[in-house]
Amino acid sequence: MESMGSLRRTHNCDVLGKGNIGEEVVLMGWVLRRRDHGGVIFIDLRDRRGITQVVFNPEVNPEVHAKAHRLRSEWVLAVKGKVEARPADMANPKLITGEIEVLVDELRILNTSETPPFPLDEESEISDNLRLQYRYLDLRRPEIGANLLMRHKAVQAIRNYLNDQDFLDIETPVLTRSTPEGARDYLVPSRVNAGKFYALPQSPQLFKQLLMMAGMDRYYQIVKCFRDEDLRADRQPEFTQIDMEMSFVDEEQVIDITEGMIKALFQSTLNEDVAPPFPRITYDEAMSRFGTDRPDMRFGFELIDLTAIAADCSFKVFREAADGGGTVRAINAKGCASFSRKDLDNLTDYVVQFGAKGLAWVKMKADGEWQSPIAKFFTDEERNAMAAALGAEEGDLLFFGADTPAVVCQSLGELRVELARRLELIDNQKFNFVWVTDFPLVEYDDKEKRYQALHHPFTAPQQDSIDKLETEPASVYSRAYDLVLNGTEIGGGSIRIHERDVQSRVLNALGISEEEAANKFGFLLRALELGAPPHGGIAFGLDRLLMIITGSSSIRDVIAFPKTQKATCPLTEAPASVARKQLTELYLRPDWKEKE
Ligand code: AMO
Ligand code: AMP
Repeated sequence: MESMGSLRRTHNCDVLGKGNIGEEVVLMGWVLRRRDHGGVIFIDLRDRRGITQVVFNPEVNPEVHAKAHRLRSEWVLAVKGKVEARPADMANPKLITGEIEVLVDELRILNTSETPPFPLDEESEISDNLRLQYRYLDLRRPEIGANLLMRHKAVQAIRNYLNDQDFLDIETPVLTRSTPEGARDYLVPSRVNAGKFYALPQSPQLFKQLLMMAGMDRYYQIVKCFRDEDLRADRQPEFTQIDMEMSFVDEEQVIDITEGMIKALFQSTLNEDVAPPFPRITYDEAMSRFGTDRPDMRFGFELIDLTAIAADCSFKVFREAADGGGTVRAINAKGCASFSRKDLDNLTDYVVQFGAKGLAWVKMKADGEWQSPIAKFFTDEERNAMAAALGAEEGDLLFFGADTPAVVCQSLGELRVELARRLELIDNQKFNFVWVTDFPLVEYDDKEKRYQALHHPFTAPQQDSIDKLETEPASVYSRAYDLVLNGTEIGGGSIRIHERDVQSRVLNALGISEEEAANKFGFLLRALELGAPPHGGIAFGLDRLLMIITGSSSIRDVIAFPKTQKATCPLTEAPASVARKQLTELYLRPDWKEKE
């Protein structure tokens, strides 16, 4: 191997163009491909920024040309040479540097490489595991590397914006106590405090509230959060939040400031004007029209409530749902009457995953006639009333769900997204933002047999419904808001409780005793007694935002070293076993007492 010697890079691989013709340049990078054409060797030299074609001509410099014969994929080179115009028919309009090439007269081989375990120069099916095992090679591929560049730009834009708005970037502890965000904690055993554990933060929620109580007024942090939950395409066990908190604000100010941040973010990453203010929808309306609190509003297929019409029909499934406090809802898949039996069976299987017991359907024929296994159960009046409510016309396909509101909303909500996907109705160039507001404060958890906070226990109840906290907690609304982008929840926050007595009432409604509260977050409750200002905030999922900005299908593609679906890292093989001695030191072996 050779050293760089006195060679110093003059340019990166993405900049040379016609204006540089005749200049002597030094480039450094990796061999992407090698092509031999009638004696002349062409190398695509790659760095993270781009590709430049470098040429070895036996007639110009036979010695260097002979050396270039050895070059293989991913070898690391320094080349010095002269920028020349490519012959017109050899120009590559797809490359910034496509009009020039560098005729090499000095080549230094800085390092060789074994044949990489997967090709880096083409779109090929590579297993996710292999990609993550060799993530440093995967990141050399321009499309993945570009995501990290985008992430860098995004973070800069956010910092610039928030710094300009007088926010302070303040770090909060990673070794801390459990934060009640609702997921499972990652625990860290303490060596110096036998049998005690830190929890990694699920978010800096309590600390950012304490910072408001400390008078910091405006805080932000781009911060790692840890949640031990089941992983999906948009969930990682460690992920990054853009976390913010402000004092002396209400919902409008938080929304206003964050809209400005989102605007700056899209401007600087995609040069896209997302034009706030974004539309708003209440939680109740989102659930009723879209069956979800993160509606994708780029397409229609809204859920229509037919419970009243179905109440007296002779289809037992519908009638029983309507009578038993359930609901009957439907969506009109416009123009889809040509779906095959197989399509319908497929979609039925699809909704069954979400708890539906079936998926009744109707194909609309001429003159309002219904082609459907359930047509016979309805009177003409019932059919007409349902068709009218759904705006059904010849050629439409209607889907019905009858069950508890939760099951019907979820299954039809998922069905409408699946239909839009299959029919390719989703415009991926569009950024559809919507604020979801007026969430219920609590929801009943059937498994735990108690109320749980929908957001977290520090979210303020709305003044209008706070009186029902003791009698009818499920009908109290909260001052929480989520920002949804194209059907993904990208951020959520709330105005917080800053009055000690209100906090006690909410904890009481959640079935958390004063004793338990004092034990888990007594420090926060105490701070509420010592001059806590009104405050509120929000946190965005940076990875999710970038997944959408870069058009990636998983948040793994925007994280340098992500984890697999099983929360492992194939590169470092974390998590790993540790020595018995380490466990003993941490009091994690049942026999630690004896040893002491
Ligand atoms: P929340 O739990 O809604 O709120 O989280 C805020 C945002 O973080 C993102 N997010 C995730 N991204 C990737 N992987 C995960 N496992 C994951 N979990 C959450 C989402 C989500 O909208 N402390 C509150 C915020 C506040 O009230 O200010 C909180 O953490 O995009
Ligand atoms: P069945 O009477 O069970 O043969 O069902 C007739 C049709 O109604 C079938 O297409 C089922 O998929 C559908 N169906 C059954 N249960 C439900 C339900 N709870 N909601 C919607 N459709 C249903």
